[in-house]
Amino acid sequence: MTYDFDRLIDRRRTDSSKWQQYGPDVLPLWVADMDFRSPEPVIRALRERVEHGVFGYLTFEQPEFHQLFADRLLKRYGWRVSPDAVVIIPGVIAGFNVAGRVLAAPGDGLVLQTPVYPPILRAAGNMGLTREEAPLARRPDGSYEVDVDAFVAAIRDRTRFFLLCNPHNPVGRVFRRDELQRLAEVCLRRGLAIVADEIHCELAFAGHRHIPIASLDPEIAERTITLMAPSKTFNLAGLKCSVAVIPNAALRAKFIAARVDLVSTVNVLGYTAAYAAYRDGQPWLDELLRYLEANRDFVVDYARTRLPGVRVAPPEATYLAWLDCRNAGAAGADPFTFFLDKARVALHDGALFGPGGEGFVRLNFGCPRTMLVEALDRMQDALTRDRPARV
Ligand SMILES: Cc1ncc(COP(=O)(O)O)c(C=O)c1O
Repeated sequence: MTYDFDRLIDRRRTDSSKWQQYGPDVLPLWVADMDFRSPEPVIRALRERVEHGVFGYLTFEQPEFHQLFADRLLKRYGWRVSPDAVVIIPGVIAGFNVAGRVLAAPGDGLVLQTPVYPPILRAAGNMGLTREEAPLARRPDGSYEVDVDAFVAAIRDRTRFFLLCNPHNPVGRVFRRDELQRLAEVCLRRGLAIVADEIHCELAFAGHRHIPIASLDPEIAERTITLMAPSKTFNLAGLKCSVAVIPNAALRAKFIAARVDLVSTVNVLGYTAAYAAYRDGQPWLDELLRYLEANRDFVVDYARTRLPGVRVAPPEATYLAWLDCRNAGAAGADPFTFFLDKARVALHDGALFGPGGEGFVRLNFGCPRTMLVEALDRMQDALTRDRPARV
């Protein structure tokens, strides 16, 4: 390995959300950023930009970025878009909230699949929309898949768009072509637009291929706003630079108009980092994925063999594992509080992910292996300590 993902980096005095939220004795494996340094070309580009010392407004058009990103979509997914379709935005959350304002009016609705990332759940409320919930189907092995019947049943007359999350946070699925195709067909039939949060698209593991829903066919692309970012991929979340891909020129114009004066430009350093990451970050990303995949396998194996009552299906993408603790004895009712209090490990509370999240926690394995081992050992100790003695 050229890159040292095993290195423990002290983040406690860096105003990190992940590391500041809980006391010094707590290991934080909750919010979705990683405890790794970003790729060296990104750090170098930032250093050079900082050395320049002038940080005025960024221009609205960055043709070289648009081209680089359009080339990336073609290379990775065979999805051909014009560089004009690429709009730079300061965050995916901002992106789907702006998109919703363009696609629906108060009183209309959006449909989503639960459980799901909390800001996706919140979006409808931010815009005065109703939220129609289509549960994902849970398979006997604890993994999930699209339930098209539930999706169809959730749609109402005033549902205007589908807010998709793929790869899915928290369940870690990379939806297959047939699943996406069926969802897209329903959207076409029912006249729904699609807002696709695909922020985890570059973190798919071996054997799984991310397919942007808009790449299925031009008719779908015309009604879709796709949101992607280098933030998860290259660990740049604090730099706030993301991308909306909107091939439909009229829709794009509306999106650009709706974000004016709210989230019109991005931070110069975020832009610098994103450009360097997309241009020069691939060797780092290749190794990162191998490291994450090994961590993923470790977590799954550990849970199966050493965390009594905890079930987890191997995530197909993301550095997030969705742990079903409902049968884990004392942890079952509220695993988040249990592991925080008894193991001093902070996970993400599954209840925040909406229906289907009660009794679950989300564990972030984007950290050095030794930290992961320490957290899992603490969780195992807490579970076995709190087990009722056999009579
Ligand atoms: C599915 C999903 N969307 C969006 C975000 C956050 O995006 P941003 O920081 O670009 O607003 C996250 C972060 O965890 C996420 O998991």
